[in-house]
Amino acid sequence: MYYPGLKGVTAVETKLSDIDGANGMLTYRGTSIQKLVENYNFEEIAYYLLHGDFPNSDKLQVFQTALRGNRELPPYIRNILSNIPIEQSIMDVLRTTISSISAKEDVEDTAIQLIAIIPTIIANRYRIMKNLNVIEPNPRLNHVENFIYMLTGETNTANAKILEAYLIMTMEHGLNASTFAARVTISTESDLVSAITSAIGTMKGPLHGGAPSGVIDLLEEIATKDQISEVIHNKLKNKERIMGFGHRVYKTVDPRAEALKQIIYKLESSPEWIELAVETEKVTIDILNELKPNQKLYTNVEYYAAAIMKSLELDPELFTAIFSSSRIVGWCAHAIEQKNNNVIFRPNATYVGK
Ligand code: ACO
Repeated sequence: MYYPGLKGVTAVETKLSDIDGANGMLTYRGTSIQKLVENYNFEEIAYYLLHGDFPNSDKLQVFQTALRGNRELPPYIRNILSNIPIEQSIMDVLRTTISSISAKEDVEDTAIQLIAIIPTIIANRYRIMKNLNVIEPNPRLNHVENFIYMLTGETNTANAKILEAYLIMTMEHGLNASTFAARVTISTESDLVSAITSAIGTMKGPLHGGAPSGVIDLLEEIATKDQISEVIHNKLKNKERIMGFGHRVYKTVDPRAEALKQIIYKLESSPEWIELAVETEKVTIDILNELKPNQKLYTNVEYYAAAIMKSLELDPELFTAIFSSSRIVGWCAHAIEQKNNNVIFRPNATYVGK
């Protein structure tokens, strides 16, 4: 049998997350993402995904100290960051700098190093691209507060909480394309850094992590509510995909999109823009349901991720990289799960040539 894109094929067993695509539910290790967002912070959930249980306060402190201790960039990475041509995207730079790191002997130490260093790489490179002074990590701030601080130079607890909710909701999501890439690489008994490099390259594509900036482009093209229908119809006529809609697994509302939408309603900034996003969602779903009634196309997490990041005034150039800064946790947890119960991935190809 041949299953293009491996649609419907189960390739691994995992204890990390469960996606109920028909009912729009997502749990990490048995806990709903809504409960996780309400009760735990980034570091606690990263620990929970990597270890399988929540840390007590001593274990959390050790974990947080290890993360803080790995935020700083070694001099050679600083050199790479400033030497890569300025026109290269942040995802290119992230892929290159991460691949320059040597995996540590202990896989969890490597995971902590990668989770901790990614925000610093993203923020430093972004500020270099914008000709701004680079901001060093602040050890007094938690993971997400420090990330926003390194990007913007400001400490803003309310914004950090909003970004943290997004990062928690996107940390882990089953066997998505980038996670699969990480698992394929580690299944050859390669190391965690190589697995994460594969994942970052896969994340970059517009059908996966590259979608949020496409959502911004879409909304900028629409510009006003009266043009929504025309723009969407034209795109569909030209066989274009509407960015931020559709999902391989969810055939109803993506619970992460719904949760982010609720957060957006509480925001005060950019109300006009948010109104346009909400209206565009409504009109587009109606059009898609009419023109593609069997496809069950709704907004995915990327749609409202774009709205959240725009509201936080984060540059669209950063979106895919910020997504990678959360999904790194899921990548590492999956790679470790694969390593602990490994069978090399080696599917078949049906020859159809001469
Ligand atoms: N806009 C218009 N039509 C769509 C869309 C969309 N966004 N998504 C799917 N379809 C249609 C396809 O054209 C196809 O229709 P057809 O059978 O009439 O040709 C049908 O739905 C099935 O499409 P597939 O590509 O087979 O569906 P799949 O499950 O493989 O696609 C994907 C999932 C890649 C996410 C797709 O919905 C898409 O391209 N969406 C836009 C990009 C996007 O938002 N990506 C972010 C996904 S979330 C994430 O990765 C974190």
